[in-house]
Amino acid sequence: MKNYLKWEQTLFRDREVFDSGYVPEVFLYREAQMKSIGYAIAPGIEGKQPQNIVCVGPPGTGKTTSFKKIIDQAEQISPSNLILAFINCRYTQTHFSVLAEIYKKMTGIEPPTSGITLKKVYEKIAQTLVTKRKSMFVILDDADFLISRKIYDDIVNNFLRLHEEYPISIGLSTVHSTQCPLLDDGLSSVFIPAVIKFPSYSWDETFDILNTRVKIGLYPNVVKNEIIEKITDYAVSKGDIRFGIDLLKRSVISAEKRASTIAEFIDVDNALIEASNERMKRYLKVFTDSETALLSLASDMGTSQAGDLFCAFSKRTRKGYTTFHKSLNKLVNAKLVDSCIENRGKNGRTRIITAKQPSTC
Ligand SMILES: Nc1ncnc2c1ncn2[C@@H]1O[C@H](COP(=O)(O)OP(=O)(O)OP(=O)(O)O)[C@@H](O)[C@H]1O
Ligand SMILES: [Mg+2]
Repeated sequence: MKNYLKWEQTLFRDREVFDSGYVPEVFLYREAQMKSIGYAIAPGIEGKQPQNIVCVGPPGTGKTTSFKKIIDQAEQISPSNLILAFINCRYTQTHFSVLAEIYKKMTGIEPPTSGITLKKVYEKIAQTLVTKRKSMFVILDDADFLISRKIYDDIVNNFLRLHEEYPISIGLSTVHSTQCPLLDDGLSSVFIPAVIKFPSYSWDETFDILNTRVKIGLYPNVVKNEIIEKITDYAVSKGDIRFGIDLLKRSVISAEKRASTIAEFIDVDNALIEASNERMKRYLKVFTDSETALLSLASDMGTSQAGDLFCAFSKRTRKGYTTFHKSLNKLVNAKLVDSCIENRGKNGRTRIITAKQPSTC
């Protein structure tokens, strides 16, 4: 094998292939979903009514990527009577900002931010469609955030009722990573979406997706199959392919740092520790002092009975059981510690707390 470090100083053929915003050219195992999304949007290209859809699947199952690819394709079609508005609701926090972003996508300008009602912005959107003689398809990605802010029903309802007042065609897709939204009676009379499911990738599928990235992004033989298999194990147990892509990138960077032309298992271990440390740093920014103290104690004790952990916690923080209980739940939800109940003979049941190792959290 050539010594790539010498002449290229890098093992990456194309580092961007491992970036979070990268849209893969080879998009495996999502043919059926892409077809269904395309089928829903296609009528809009001729100015007709697109079909409403709901896309649902766990994190990292290719929902956003599917839309990015379809939007890319749709934008190549000319002439087209369709306006596509993709909104990431994770960052678009309010009813007004969702509308403002849609309006900006349609016209290139933002609506005034003060002295204008929501109703007025809806009117402006509808009037723009009438004037431009276009239909529209709105994609509300990460729409779980709209549900938790309790504005999902209003937005969906208002959009889908616009055609009652204006001669326009609007289709809507909402995208969810938890579960299908529960539509109340009022909403389900206007919103009857086709549901497109994005199931988790199997081990073999995950391996193929990671292997494809390796082939496109790295020079030959930098990462052997056994390393991809190991990273596949971690990605599958984590349930998110992003974790696998990130581990691949970090492992190769670790190999580069060792001035090696091949990533070894030690590089995967380094990558895991680094990924875990970064995650921990992100958590520590949002954790309270009590939660941080509890995490540190749980890590020191490894596996402990909840009672013993509480004693150590109250000794260190002088906080009571309520704070302990709340903090512990937060750590369990963040998957930094495991909690399970063990039956211990006639002494009854005991809660056992186990701090997770970097590779598993
Ligand atoms: N089938 C696939 N082939 C290649 N890469 C994929 C595939 N599915 C997902 N990915 C990659 O995994 C990462 C996550 O994909 P994406 O953002 O589309 O997931 P998502 O379902 O929208 O997740 P979330 O619910 O967290 O928003 C991206 O880097 C994407 O390129
Ligand atoms: Mg997404």
